[in-house]
Amino acid sequence: MSGHEANSPSGTMRIDRCVCVDVTFAQMRAHADRCGSTDVAELRSAFRCAEGCGLCEPYIERMLQSQTVVFDEVIPPRPCQAER
Ligand code: FES
Repeated sequence: MSGHEANSPSGTMRIDRCVCVDVTFAQMRAHADRCGSTDVAELRSAFRCAEGCGLCEPYIERMLQSQTVVFDEVIPPRPCQAER
């Protein structure tokens, strides 16, 4: 396990945060709602998320689009994100 996911008691994957800064997508969602943040750059500035390994970035993008804050699937990075 990479540390980016944890198994729930039911055995499903649970991805809920940027593990590099230990900030949950729910915390980012609340900030985005409160401050009107609409893109990853604004959340990166506020939390320093997506500055380390970058694996959380596609989840943050999905969270901003869908309101989802806990994911049970691996979202691969876009090619430019994978070059970090
Ligand atoms: S998990 Fe967010 S930068 Fe590494």
